Amino acid sequence: MADAAQSKVISLWIATAQETDYPRLDGDLDVDVAVIGGGIAGLTAALELKGRGLTVAVIEGSRIGTGVTGNTTGKVTSLHRLAYGTLAADHGEDAARAYGQANEAALEHIAKTVAAEDIDCGFRRVANYTYTASTEHLPAIRAEAELAARLGLPASYTADVPLPFPTAGAVRFDHQAQIHAVNYLRGLARAVDGGGSVVVERTVVTELRDGTPAEAVTDRGTVRARDIVVATNVPMGDGGRYRERLTLHRSYIVASPVPGGSLPEDATFISADEPMRSILSARVGGTDYVLVGGEGHPVGGDGGAPGAGSTERFDRLAEFSRERLGGGAPAYRWSTQDTLPADGLPFAGSLTPEARHVYVITGLRKWGLTNGTAAALVVAEAITGGASPWAGLFDSTREVAPARQAESTTAEPRLPPWRGLPRLAPREGAVFDVDGKATAVYADDSGAPHALSARCTHLRCVVEFRRGADGEAPTWDCPCHGSRFALDGTVIQGPAEKDLARRDLPR
Ligand SMILES: Cc1cc2nc3c(=O)[nH]c(=O)nc-3n(C[C@H](O)[C@H](O)[C@H](O)COP(=O)(O)OP(=O)(O)OC[C@H]3O[C@@H](n4cnc5c(N)ncnc54)[C@H](O)[C@@H]3O)c2cc1C
Ligand code: FES
Repeated sequence: MADAAQSKVISLWIATAQETDYPRLDGDLDVDVAVIGGGIAGLTAALELKGRGLTVAVIEGSRIGTGVTGNTTGKVTSLHRLAYGTLAADHGEDAARAYGQANEAALEHIAKTVAAEDIDCGFRRVANYTYTASTEHLPAIRAEAELAARLGLPASYTADVPLPFPTAGAVRFDHQAQIHAVNYLRGLARAVDGGGSVVVERTVVTELRDGTPAEAVTDRGTVRARDIVVATNVPMGDGGRYRERLTLHRSYIVASPVPGGSLPEDATFISADEPMRSILSARVGGTDYVLVGGEGHPVGGDGGAPGAGSTERFDRLAEFSRERLGGGAPAYRWSTQDTLPADGLPFAGSLTPEARHVYVITGLRKWGLTNGTAAALVVAEAITGGASPWAGLFDSTREVAPARQAESTTAEPRLPPWRGLPRLAPREGAVFDVDGKATAVYADDSGAPHALSARCTHLRCVVEFRRGADGEAPTWDCPCHGSRFALDGTVIQGPAEKDLARRDLPR
């Protein structure tokens, strides 16, 4: 199907936002708080801390809003599919209530910030639905609606779902929202920069030092601060046992033009059924788009099974968009990954139990626009000596049973021995055992092999070949914490900071 393949491989949000142009760090700097990462978590924490009278430096390795937040769907909601039933079963109703309150407070914090800072990010109020097309799932839908209403959330059950295809019923949350996430981050960055606080871009932090002062070390200088916030999506370094307590999941989105007025403007949707489909419509630059997301899989490679390549995943989303929602050929398609906490609750607080001045925000469970905002407020409160009502719920040092993915990915893969090229077709890659060393080999267009160390430079897991979709460059992806490397070994996405080393193959 040529449908999705014609589209640009970039998120609608990144493609339609003006690029930021903050300088690189230029020499050493002293501030009250250094925030590493210019996504929703870092920028929200930074602005909150500045508002509390502290000077901050946001250190972004790439450009503001080009991380996971720039690749989001854009729902700002406390309805996270069927999360409340699971949270109540695993942690009790009080914890589920607190999770809902934290996310509702985050939603209102975003609404307030948009107004206070006059951020032009298409913020609009919508109702959000978790729907099912099958009567089999109706009891779960009804139970979620009843539980969420009992927890004090703006929830109800409805059989009236404003989608243009048959549905059986839905949980409905009122007074939710959606945003152009990159434009929101640009607004946050603009509000942070100035008055003794700074935003720097294209400045990668390579080392953290806890102490008085704490230090964030980069190749452009060191930022000394009383406190540091690590908001890099996946935490830097190997402290804090996040490797055991988080898994990473990649999902795919297509954005297709759709005739204006054919979809409700005031509603967003996610299916309770599998395959999961997430739906949002937005008017951007005068064009009406419908976004369809889904096709998620644990990170590393393209997701394993036959038919599971990125091209097929985009095609299935495009087909759903066309058949069910009247979407035209996709204009944009993209994929991104986020951290899933093994117990379903975000982490916000000290990076490790021993850390004195280093804080972390992670585990936003693919609902980071609100979870990341809530977590940022928890950390800002901790840094300024206050007590957030959600500090205990999000406690970053809590014990969590290891995630299943962590167990499987830490096992050493059995690698086929390298016996020369015929095993690889042009534009294919695989990892081999070459003289006892895990070696990533890619055969280029002419079939010539290019070899790299397959040991991820973060914590030495073995990377996997990700073919990518048509029009997208293949990559080497790490199944442990989601680092991604280009075919020449260059880091595309952390937590790894160093490139994969080149290797020679035996003649
Ligand atoms: C497909 C998909 C759809 C989603 N849709 C929604 C949605 O509709 N609603 C919702 O609430 N959530 C959604 N989410 C989740 C949400 O987008 C994320 O939870 C959230 O954006 C994560 O924000 P972050 O600040 O942690 O990470 P990021 O936005 O990735 O920010 C981290 C930043 O840190 C920088 N960085 C990393 N390492 C370093 C370093 N060493 N030095 C300096 N900088 C560094 C990166 O460049 C990056 O810019 C979705 C997730 C996925 C995967
Ligand atoms: S070992 Fe952590 S990302 Fe690869």
